[in-house]
Amino acid sequence: MVAAGPSLQTQVLSEVSVSGKPRTPTGIGEVDRVLGGGFVGGSVVLVGGEPGVGKSTLLLQLAAQVADQGSVLLASAEESASQVALRATRLGLNAPGLRVVADGRVEAVLSACVENMPDLLIIDSIQTVTTADAEGSAGGVVQVRESAGRFIEFAKRTGTVVALVGHVTKEGSIAGPKTLEHMVDVVMYLEGEGDGGLRLLRSLKNRYGSVNQVGVFTMGDVGLDEVPDPSGVLVEAHRAGASGTVLFPMVEGRRSMLCEVQALVVQTVLPQPRRSVKGLDGARVHQLLAVLERHAGVQLVKADVHVNVVGGVRLKDPAVDLAVALAIVSSVQDRPLPLTAAWGEVGLTGEIRTATHGERRQEEASRFDPELVVRPGKGGIRTLHEALLEAGLTPGRR
Ligand code: TYD
Ligand code: MG
Repeated sequence: MVAAGPSLQTQVLSEVSVSGKPRTPTGIGEVDRVLGGGFVGGSVVLVGGEPGVGKSTLLLQLAAQVADQGSVLLASAEESASQVALRATRLGLNAPGLRVVADGRVEAVLSACVENMPDLLIIDSIQTVTTADAEGSAGGVVQVRESAGRFIEFAKRTGTVVALVGHVTKEGSIAGPKTLEHMVDVVMYLEGEGDGGLRLLRSLKNRYGSVNQVGVFTMGDVGLDEVPDPSGVLVEAHRAGASGTVLFPMVEGRRSMLCEVQALVVQTVLPQPRRSVKGLDGARVHQLLAVLERHAGVQLVKADVHVNVVGGVRLKDPAVDLAVALAIVSSVQDRPLPLTAAWGEVGLTGEIRTATHGERRQEEASRFDPELVVRPGKGGIRTLHEALLEAGLTPGRR
């Protein structure tokens, strides 16, 4: 026997009203691109990233934009109110609708909200707040989960948008691995490194829009600047005529952008040559080195190999293989390539596989009149050996 529970009113699905969630543009185009048009009322957005990447800066700029039209409460549990004010002054931000409270107690922040009822509540950061309802210290799994739960409940009940800042460790997880990501509506990560380098805002989850959107910024003296055309910036800085550099058209979501892959190969007497990889999957680059040795006759056992994606961009797309391979061989042979764009996944037998979005990559590359495009597909190259010849490089004995 199944015990009778409370009886529920069910609805015919097609008769359920689909009140479209209205979006409010944030005023920062690159953020709106990632959110899918703007904030949805009552939603909770997690903004993750490594310490120092610029999360507090981005959210302060966002806060000032939103506060132009509405009201924002910034709850800072990491910095004092005067530190936040100092940063706002540095950024030239002055919005009367922006209030700040420097407190890490969840209940205190929520009662401040009841008084002010902001359109946007920012919690910086979820790892430094604590709720009286849970045990454990700030930043621990239990506190993070329970505190986030309180803010989520508040957002759903009042329609306030809540943005939670979450620090990511070098290993890439926010305290309480994944728990937080499951709880919130939108997850965005801010990535990038180096002063003046690019900052990429990526969405990993979006209950109200598509994921894999990228927003691009640079960190300058007065905060984050939007970069609507990152390819232009990269190509401008690209030093044609140097060996070891190749352009790669990355495609993510609706965005395509050119990235510059650089390689430096130098002879070494060390028994264990160095392999340093930045912005790419290290294991994949190691595999590529083996394929180059075996199928293109490129000797690398007595060489240090450094591979880098310019501007702190991180690429996970396997289509970057061919650009990496060409950059490495160009450096080994110290032969500069003409302005070259390349893409294609390199297989273990030295074959080049067709990559997704071939046409969009071609289009993105074409905007900059490359002198050479090395790509797989119809009429394109099929092996690493062919690719090297196409680029004017010399394959060794296979
Ligand atoms: P911050 O937003 O504090 O990072 P997070 O909150 O992710 O830890 O930004 C930290 C870095 O950004 C800091 O090293 C200084 C730099 N920065 C600038 O280069 N320009 C600026 O205008 C600001 C405000 C910060
Ligand atoms: Mg911060």
